[in-house]
Amino acid sequence: MRLILLGAPGAGKGTQAEIIAAKLNIPTISTGNILREAIKNGTETGLKAKSFMDQGMLVPDDVIIGIVRERLAQPDCAGGYILDGMPRTIPQAQALLEQGVEIDRVVSIEIADDVIEARMTGRRVCSVCGASYHVTANPPKTEGICNACGGELTIRKDDKPETVRHRLAVYHSETEALKGFYEKLGKLRLVEGNQPIEDATRDILAALGD
Ligand code: AP5
Ligand code: MG
Repeated sequence: MRLILLGAPGAGKGTQAEIIAAKLNIPTISTGNILREAIKNGTETGLKAKSFMDQGMLVPDDVIIGIVRERLAQPDCAGGYILDGMPRTIPQAQALLEQGVEIDRVVSIEIADDVIEARMTGRRVCSVCGASYHVTANPPKTEGICNACGGELTIRKDDKPETVRHRLAVYHSETEALKGFYEKLGKLRLVEGNQPIEDATRDILAALGD
């Protein structure tokens, strides 16, 4: 299964990608997590990406396309993968097509803008592995500690309300058009994001099989 998860910031892409990747035993490629890791490690890519991310703007297409091309060439992607947060623009989607990347399914997790802010203010992310939690909807077993790796949970820098609003605007202006792009290719399925996490997982798994 080569799957793309689309959706606004806070739709639940990262949360669902982790669950589904474990069920299908395939890796998740999250461009957001890769970029945050690069910033943490002070790499050249991280330096380029940081100011864009802090402001809730998209990182330039050429940077993202290069990162994903390299990642998809790794042996663990041979049996399938989940792309979380890429493509985010039409040129990124076109680059995948031009590279001959075959996608089986594109699932858009649908959620209204007004639900998103509450989600973001409660989000906590693992500073080591990037896993997402929520203080009420999806709390860790031990407060402040990641279930998966024991890392410390932190608040993402771009989860400030004004930055979230900007990211949402960018989603509507740059990313939402990808639904039409993949609809035309017959790959798109829509799943309701404003429902309990397990129910959204069930609907995504159903969308993979139809
Ligand atoms: P990225 O890290 O991809 O952020 P995003 O798309 O804005 O999405 P989020 O990670 O904020 O949300 P999510 O959908 O993963 O939701 P989550 O599962 O965490 O990108 C960050 C930045 O990197 C971008 O702004 C850009 O600068 C750059 N970037 C990345 N990719 C790029 C690209 N391709 N091109 C250019 N730039 C790029 O869930 C959110 C919260 O809700 C959590 O607390 C979670 O626990 C909770 N939650 C999840 N599901 C539910 C549910 N069903 N009910 C209740 N709560 C839920
Ligand atoms: Mg995410």
